[in-house]
Amino acid sequence: MCRTRAPGKLTSWLIYTTSVITMTGSFQFGWNTGVMTAPSLYIEDFYNQSYTDRYGEISEDGLMWLWAWTISLYAVGGAFGALAVPPFADILGRKGGLLLLNVFSLSAALMFGSSYNSHNFELVIMGRIVIGFYCGAASAIVPLFLAEISPKNLRGAVGVCHQLLITLGILIAQVCGFYWLNEDDNWQILLALTGVFSLAQLIFLPFCPESPRWLLIIDRERKAAEKALQRYLDEKDVSWAIDEMIEEYIEECKEPKVGFSGLFTNKNYREPLIISGFVHFFQQFSGINAIFFYASEIYYMIWPNDPEAVDLATVGTGTINVLTTIVAVFVVEKAGRRALLLYPYMTMVFFMACVTFTLSLANPYEDDVWDYLALCSVYGYIISFAIGPGPIPFVLVAELWSQGPRPAAMSFSLQVNWWSNFVVNFFFPVFQKTLGEYVFTIFMVFQLLAVWFHYFMVPETKNRTFEEITSQFRKDAIYEDDLAIIEMAEHERVKVD
Ligand code: GLC
Repeated sequence: MCRTRAPGKLTSWLIYTTSVITMTGSFQFGWNTGVMTAPSLYIEDFYNQSYTDRYGEISEDGLMWLWAWTISLYAVGGAFGALAVPPFADILGRKGGLLLLNVFSLSAALMFGSSYNSHNFELVIMGRIVIGFYCGAASAIVPLFLAEISPKNLRGAVGVCHQLLITLGILIAQVCGFYWLNEDDNWQILLALTGVFSLAQLIFLPFCPESPRWLLIIDRERKAAEKALQRYLDEKDVSWAIDEMIEEYIEECKEPKVGFSGLFTNKNYREPLIISGFVHFFQQFSGINAIFFYASEIYYMIWPNDPEAVDLATVGTGTINVLTTIVAVFVVEKAGRRALLLYPYMTMVFFMACVTFTLSLANPYEDDVWDYLALCSVYGYIISFAIGPGPIPFVLVAELWSQGPRPAAMSFSLQVNWWSNFVVNFFFPVFQKTLGEYVFTIFMVFQLLAVWFHYFMVPETKNRTFEEITSQFRKDAIYEDDLAIIEMAEHERVKVD
């Protein structure tokens, strides 16, 4: 039996590894999500020229589709990247997997950096797929690594740092785009800057201790695991933590071995699998990326002749996103995961209704009060998203699984995330064209479904060990069988009596 000591401390190695992997991995995910907003007109112009030079003139519609594919293929790359997690993170380890992945990020940076001079718009599109692959894989390995190195009482707060650096990446990419590299041919430098964060990772990551869970359970290196634990926990005697992991492993051995497909056939995994998929599905179908995209249009209605004010308000949206995520870091261990998902989805429905209502009343040619109410509603919506539905899915999924199926499960949930991201990004402009501001009612339906789902399906995982969480699902499955056995025994006893 393990002797669990609480509460775990925020040690310097925990801070170091968390900072390194989020500032270079999660940050790049955010950076590449936000980096295309500011220079879009310049890049489209380049597409036009480079296409015309080689293939002849391109129609306006053709250009629009080429651009739509450039934006959305990033998510397709992301989906494939998330698939590559079990081989990367299991064979090479969490640290080794992240290190090797930089090959993709650096190649993408080269493609972006050389596209302008070689007149090759295809290089931008290919670069978006390749960097998407990197971000997809990193967005699965980083939360996994964070969950495995944090003590249970800090796991939520440390896990939220992943989303915090994503939001910071989006914001800084927008600020750089609007205020710094906002000139004709500078965009390729902006896009290629992603490689600098990878170089930083290659310098700082090798010093981080590997995940002790991976070392002990997958790599079978007890000594190395103890050493890594001593650093992360800042304690000499770590035998209790080793016991805890072994206990988790013994439980896991009782289950048949599972690969990716095994996730779908083992009935113990049914419930966590449904939860892992749907928390990410609802995160994307809450419409967050559509709102980010549409925000500038709303601000343009308020200040039609003042592009600087529009840029400022857009950056304001990103800033609110970051600030609220910082609040989430501090409240997640108190409020718990479930409450931070359930209640914010309710307020999102409210604010999205306000966005639709105020926009339908606003006069696009006049500055009126509805414009400002629309602005406040967008901010209210972003705050609701950033306090829970943004960060919590990454934390929760890492907590629902035992060591064996965890990487495959993270991969699966991120598949759902990226494909949903792709669908929303790709179809939103089409729906918006036909439905106008009423397009947001579609997202309201999904948010209402999210409230229902989180109320009935999502358990609280705060301050519980992995074993306690996963055994809840195992017990439920065994319970049904137990009931049948007890019933049979009862029946036999009645017969004998
Ligand atoms: C989450 C979503 C991502 C979105 C971001 C906004 O990380 O996964 O798609 O862009 O939040 O903050």
